Amino acid sequence: MKSDNLVEDIKARLDIVELISEHVELKRSGSNFKGLCPFHAEKTPSFMVSPAKQIFHCFGCSKGGDIFGFTMGYENMDFSETLSFLADKAGLNIDEYRGAKTDKGIKENVLAAQVEALNFFRQNLSKSKQAKKYLEDRGVSEETAAVFSLGYTISDRDALYKKLKAKGLSDAHIKASGLVNFGERGPYDFFRDRLMFPIFDLQGKPIAFGGRTFSSSKEIPKYINSPDSPVFRKGETCFSLDKAKSAIVQKKYSVIVEGYLDAIMCHQHGIANVVAPLGTALTAGQVKRLKRFAEKVVLVFDGDSAGISATKRALSVVFGEGLQAKVLILPEGEDPDSYLKKHGAEKFRKLMAGALSPVNFLLKYSGSNRLDAVRLAIQSIAACADSLQRDELVRELGERSGVSELTLRQELKTTVQKTFKNSGQNRNSGRNETHIRADQTNKEELLLLNIMLTMPEKAYDILHGIEGGFIENTVIRAIFDKAAKFIKNKSQSANLTNALLDVCSDDERVMITKHSISHECDIEHADTAIEDCISKIKLREIEKKIKEAELKANETGDLKELSLLLTEKNEFNNKRMLRGQG
Ligand code: UTP
Ligand code: MN
Repeated sequence: MKSDNLVEDIKARLDIVELISEHVELKRSGSNFKGLCPFHAEKTPSFMVSPAKQIFHCFGCSKGGDIFGFTMGYENMDFSETLSFLADKAGLNIDEYRGAKTDKGIKENVLAAQVEALNFFRQNLSKSKQAKKYLEDRGVSEETAAVFSLGYTISDRDALYKKLKAKGLSDAHIKASGLVNFGERGPYDFFRDRLMFPIFDLQGKPIAFGGRTFSSSKEIPKYINSPDSPVFRKGETCFSLDKAKSAIVQKKYSVIVEGYLDAIMCHQHGIANVVAPLGTALTAGQVKRLKRFAEKVVLVFDGDSAGISATKRALSVVFGEGLQAKVLILPEGEDPDSYLKKHGAEKFRKLMAGALSPVNFLLKYSGSNRLDAVRLAIQSIAACADSLQRDELVRELGERSGVSELTLRQELKTTVQKTFKNSGQNRNSGRNETHIRADQTNKEELLLLNIMLTMPEKAYDILHGIEGGFIENTVIRAIFDKAAKFIKNKSQSANLTNALLDVCSDDERVMITKHSISHECDIEHADTAIEDCISKIKLREIEKKIKEAELKANETGDLKELSLLLTEKNEFNNKRMLRGQG
């Protein structure tokens, strides 16, 4: 059901536990889930997710919010990017909400073209003896071919074009899909007579293809790949990540290999946390994608000189995104595919277990000049965005190279300064933590806040009770004020946390998520606790006024105000005694 509110509709369709589980391993903990916070480094989990409230909160770094807050923080996106990212995930068309007159169907149509092409290619494969024989010769099982939806394109000039037209797609959309080129002699299919490797997005939708020729002629490019399109950005997509993501989360690292077939054969051999870049060198966008699932990567590259320089480039990219890396250089002439075929999965796993640290790799594969090697290592380390990791790498470089750590650090400093001058960027920009203002807080205010957020059916009583009373903590006071705008009568309590999150400041959000996560009071004791807290708050306020009045009375000798307040206090205490509070 579509409403007018995109945010609401997204929230109704996406579950925060599912969303966060794509990036964080969550374990059930009572009615909540718990895991290691993705926003700060920690060894014991203090990151909580509440499925009931659809919010998260980290008790270590005080970050908290709903699916929007999580995505903005995690993906480093602004709100509008987050909105379209989550709308997409939720299968909602953002343009329908905007009422835009623009070509709102372009993405959908381009996607439809990819799906159509995928089906067509698969059909062709089932009919092509040559293509099936090729896969068999390369050791790709039928099951693997099915899992990866491998296909084949026939050599006709425009077989796919006709197919897409027959489906009612317009030339403009077909062109935008990149599957067909429009030349002087009319449209012709981009991929012809090739084995087809579909590329999927994280939701498993086909968005592009790579195609391998059967020919071994040097004249023909071995692989060609779909150009970027409205649904495909090469630099931000990894081959097979859709199939690898859960294994990456589970293993806590991803393995990056060079080729499509390398990735596919790893999966066939039960090594499932493997991805490949798309026909180009590894990009920062691809590493960012991987970082959502794990902070570590193992680079597995060919043992020839091209592989080694590709590894060095890849290392800088990986460091630049603040990930940790290990490097496995295969014996010369082997790639993961050929190695697995010859030696099997066990030996391959052993090799991976012995992957080199980056420093070790750089020293080992940098030719005979030791100083050049050290300089190169320093350059790589300078690219590292994580200061702790930088520190560790320098220490290791010192140990392994014999160059004193002091010299290395000096050299590193100069290199970093140079890099910054060139790129003119500030490493920490855009990262600001929210801190709760140091403020007076008493436990009654916190408990009331907690009860209001975890038992919203009590919100009315609480807000009614503290009306006119003084809440010392300014953040909590602001939250109560805002809540009072939502809760006008007893029945209006649903979804208070979410309503508040939509209108709160950063400080308030931290406070809200933190105290929405768990019950600090049993439901059967809630009413007594509320009364108790409210009267303590009121009493505290009276006492404060009494102190002020005492000071005044000392100066002026006028005891009227003081005696009124003392009477008020006595009456208040009497009432409390009668109610059985102490
Ligand atoms: P390789 O040449 O190492 O190929 O290219 P491969 O994956 O081992 O292929 P097989 O085993 O011969 O089938 C590695 C990757 O580089 C990209 C592709 O993504 C390929 O998987 N590539 C390579 C291209 O995009 N175009 C090319 O012409 C060659
Ligand atoms: Mn290969």
